[in-house]
Amino acid sequence: MNESRSLEDNSPVAQLDGKIPANGSVAFQLTGHRARTLSPEEAEKLAKEQVLVSDFKQLKLEKDAQKNWDLFYKRNSTHFFKDRHWTTREFEELKACREFEHQKLTILEAGCGVGNCLFPLLEEDSDTFAYACDFSPRAVEYIKQNPLYDTQRCKVFQCDLTKDDLLENMPPNSADVVMLIFVLSAVHPEKMRLVLSNIYNVLKPGKCVLFRDYGLYDHAMLRFKSANKLGENFYVRQDGTRSYFFTDELLARLFLSVGYEEVINEYVLRETVNKKEGLCVPRVFLQSKFRKPERET
Ligand SMILES: C[S@@+](CC[C@H](N)C(=O)[O-])C[C@H]1O[C@@H](n2cnc3c(N)ncnc32)[C@H](O)[C@@H]1O
Repeated sequence: MNESRSLEDNSPVAQLDGKIPANGSVAFQLTGHRARTLSPEEAEKLAKEQVLVSDFKQLKLEKDAQKNWDLFYKRNSTHFFKDRHWTTREFEELKACREFEHQKLTILEAGCGVGNCLFPLLEEDSDTFAYACDFSPRAVEYIKQNPLYDTQRCKVFQCDLTKDDLLENMPPNSADVVMLIFVLSAVHPEKMRLVLSNIYNVLKPGKCVLFRDYGLYDHAMLRFKSANKLGENFYVRQDGTRSYFFTDELLARLFLSVGYEEVINEYVLRETVNKKEGLCVPRVFLQSKFRKPERET
């Protein structure tokens, strides 16, 4: 991945990892501080959108958040998300956390789903102990049933990050790194800060949260109909699960308000061209890293 090329470059787009995906499409990727520019049609579509979902329905979606994710895993079992082997970035970050080779590291994967990120990480790095949690009891159960689940190497537990204290399942200041991958977008914006402060308590001073999630104007955001809009940059899918699309400013504000320091906070713009169908799909992610200060002020 070309992490060094910035969006301000104006140079030809970089090819993702130098590879052409198996489906014949060509993917390009850029990283930087500029969000995607909308076409006039896209801008008009977004400008016309209004929040049509009633307060009653909004409250029900919040009340049923856990149930809706659990039903998602009932329908999709462990097959929906691809194993996140692209977490090379996370592997590299783990390596960088070590002061010496084979140093034992403790990680937390917050909102781990069925382990698509967790298991590749454990396979790749034998010197890691992983805590992993999710609020879907079914997802937690799928992890426990996975043949790769080994209680010597990981502990998975059910936890609603917006209300259950992580300290009930792991010691304070114990994680060398926390991964928060496509999870915060599923949380109501008013409760995102609670998640970040819950995580803060288990992170070692001087260590980081690795964040990756949907960015503003991602293709998925533009595909939502007006009827699915819950608020600014916040939408609901047919199955009742919700998705927020982050700006770098909002994400930084959230983390900094809890006491973290910003290390990296940038958009990843990826363009997937499907030659056969003549489709060009712009994906936008936010990839960030925030540190708990060594000494609290
Ligand atoms: C899009 S999935 C991502 C799963 C996993 N991180 C991955 O990358 O494969 C979002 C996950 O967040 C979990 N989640 C959403 N809100 C949560 C909350 N308040 N507490 C704990 N987990 C939550 C969902 O159950 C779901 O497993």
